[in-house]
Formats: sequence, C-alpha cells, structure tokens
Amino acid sequence: DLTAKCADMIKKAQKICLLSGAGISTNAGIPDFRGPKGLYRTAGVDNPERIFDISYFYRDPSLFYKFHKEFLKALQQIKPTFSHYFFAKLEEKGKLIGIITQNIDSLHQRAGAKKVYEIHGGVWESYCLKCGKKFNYEESFKKTMEEETPHCDSCGGVIKPDIVFFGEPVKYLDKCIELARESDLFFVVGSSLVVTPAALIPAECKGTIVIVNKGDFSTTYLPMDRVDLVADEDIDAFFK
Ligand code: OAD
Ligand code: ZN
Repeated sequence: DLTAKCADMIKKAQKICLLSGAGISTNAGIPDFRGPKGLYRTAGVDNPERIFDISYFYRDPSLFYKFHKEFLKALQQIKPTFSHYFFAKLEEKGKLIGIITQNIDSLHQRAGAKKVYEIHGGVWESYCLKCGKKFNYEESFKKTMEEETPHCDSCGGVIKPDIVFFGEPVKYLDKCIELARESDLFFVVGSSLVVTPAALIPAECKGTIVIVNKGDFSTTYLPMDRVDLVADEDIDAFFK
C-alpha cells in the first residue's frame, strides 16, 4: 500500500526536503485557504484573495487585520500536529535537509525543526510602512488587538507584519531551489500547489517526488508525470 511504499522511500532517502502548505496545520485548528472549509470559502468577501493582496492592503489595511486578529488569537491556542513532529524527527535523524513552508504559523519550529525556510514570511516582526520602524511580536500583537488597524507610535504610518502578500517577492527563493535540487526525496504536504513561485519548487528535485494532500491537482504547476506517489488522504493519518 501507499504508506508502506512511502516508508520504503524514506528509508532509502538521504536528503529529504519538504514543502508544506496550510493543509498541514488544519488538524491543529487553523483553516486552510482553498480546502472545503478554507478561508477563501468562509471569509464572506468578494475576491477573498485580496485580503492578502499588497495593493489592496495599501488602500484598506483593515480587511487584512480583521482576519489577522483572529489568526493571532488562534496562534496562541494551537499546537503542532503529528506531521510537524514527524518531519522535525526526520531532521533530528539527519535525513532531512530542509523544510520550505508557505505557512506563517511557526508550527514546524515549535515542533523542533531548525532548518525551516518561511518563504511567505512570518508574524514575528512587523514594520511601519512609512518610516520603517520595526516592532517585535509583543508590540505588534498589542497594537493589533487594540486598534482596527495598528499604527506606528512615531509617525502614525500603518504597521505591516513581515508576511509576504500577493504582489510581494517571496523570501529565501534561491536557497529553496538549491534545497530542492539537492534533495533525493521531496515531499509536498498540505498545499494545493497553485501559488507561485512556491508551486514551481518541487519540480527542481531530480529524485522522488511525493504528494500527501487531499484534493485535486488539475490546476497545479507541477507536471504530475514527475510525481512518484500521491496520497489523497488525511495528512496525520497517513504519516501516523
Ligand atoms: P491551500 O489552502 O491552497 O491548500 C491546502 C490544501 O491542503 C488543500 O488542497 C486541502 O484540500 C489540503 N488539506 C487540508 N487539510 C488537509 C488534511 N488534514 N489532510 C490532507 N489534505 C488537507 O493552501 P496553500 O497551498 O498553503 O499565501 O496556499 C498557498 C498560499 O495561498 C498561502 O501561503 C497563502 C495563500 O493565499 C498568501 O497569502 C501569499
Ligand atoms: Zn512610522
């Protein structure tokens, strides 16, 4: 069966690389974007992708903050899933060379993984769009909870967390491509693979490619004939 086949691939691999997406954290209690209960279906706004669109943020940052407040509150409640620990363990055993994540929930790091590349940034730092002043997590969290849109105490400019929005360049792309090229086993876990450039990274792997994700991949950028195994199953059930 698929899990036995995958276990065998892991045994043979020396340099495993993971690309994770929102689906790896749904069992922790954070909704994904495009899944059946995803934010883009439940948000109740037209063109929900504009919530994370940088041009829209410049015009009306309050839409993003409406959802970000809830995300930050949820972040305080959640714990890493079995699968976050599973990949941290592979790193500890010296079999995993890196985790590329599109997530901003830091659950990979909280599970103990060290080589994590947050290609879409994270919430730990924020900065003022006007004067560039930096705010640490505690400061930005407090302001975000107190104001509709948090503002800079020096100049009054709008504060933005160091998350990559649509229309902004991703982080660590060269390093991520290097990791994929070096890997002999590449996992895609919990991503619909429709957002570029992240979706273009798996094909850089010259070895085995495995997808563990529910849903269809008819619109992905990854040529499916390059994929060696697709597990259309619950992520934690599969890795358990
Ligand atoms: P998506 O929401 O697009 O994809 C998550 C995938 O995980 C979907 O295909 C789900 O069906 C699947 N899934 C969810 N829970 C699962 C489970 N327990 N078991 C198996 N499969 C499960 O999330 P991403 O691909 O991460 O970027 O989205 C990419 C980017 O789009 C995000 O980083 C974010 C978003 O807009 C920005 O905002 C810039
Ligand atoms: Zn400022």
